[in-house]
Amino acid sequence: MIRVKKIAHAVYEMPDVDKQIEYYTDVIGLTVTDKNKDAVYLASTIDHHSVVLHKSAQAKCVRLGFQIAPDDDLGAFEKQVQGHGIKTQRRKDAEPSIADMVTFEDPKGTVMEVFKREAFSGQRFPAKGIVPHKLGHVAFFVTDVKHVTKFYCDVLGFRESDWMGDFFSFLRCGRDHHTINLMQIDANRHFHTAFELRDWAHLQTACDFLSLNGYKLIWGPGRHGIGHNLFAYHRAPNGLITELFAELDQVNEELGYFEPRPWHRDRPQKPKVWPKDPAAANLWGIMPPDEMMK
Ligand SMILES: [Fe+2]
Repeated sequence: MIRVKKIAHAVYEMPDVDKQIEYYTDVIGLTVTDKNKDAVYLASTIDHHSVVLHKSAQAKCVRLGFQIAPDDDLGAFEKQVQGHGIKTQRRKDAEPSIADMVTFEDPKGTVMEVFKREAFSGQRFPAKGIVPHKLGHVAFFVTDVKHVTKFYCDVLGFRESDWMGDFFSFLRCGRDHHTINLMQIDANRHFHTAFELRDWAHLQTACDFLSLNGYKLIWGPGRHGIGHNLFAYHRAPNGLITELFAELDQVNEELGYFEPRPWHRDRPQKPKVWPKDPAAANLWGIMPPDEMMK
């Protein structure tokens, strides 16, 4: 099976693109790498784009890009997807720096863009803003979590890292504990988009910087039980939630457990089903407000 190795980018629609560009460049600290009449491309480091913005009436995440390995065969990957009865499209030069991609929809209608990264960009880490290491994960609310989880595992090669009860799955495609997470509610929509920071000190600087720029936290800082990452959530100008995180669990795939950390309760900490318990959400105790579910 050919498995995707990394989330490359996420594509969003929103009514006010300019405001979101200002937020991503001046506050989050991404670089605008390209701009045309339909789209704005922003990135952190070696990828041409980590985030793509389009104008539309409603704020939502419409597409996700994933990389396969340099020696993987994109044609074979396309056949693998088609083998599940899924209709695919092959798109040449559809986005800057991506010569060839296979696209198809996941069960909730988000378009998957799978490609091989053949060209890297040279933009530096910017000197202003929070400046994350990378786009870390995108979380979605879904109406059928079992079905969508199975899709990401069977079609794209994700693995289940943890579950909260039977309604919240955390899926990995690399060393990071989760790259996609899916929570079952009565609608299919974006939950949050998460960027990785260096450490606790970086998170503190980021929270102060957000506050100075008028962005109030809606939950955190805290430490999640599942994934054990430090977290702080705020709402971006487009209305969608951004998470800033650090110290996310790293999996040792060969040994089947997460790299040991002082805050783990299990020794070793292995993928499992967590009870619906406050510790699964925040080991430090403060539970998410209703605002997180809006
Ligand atoms: Fe998250």
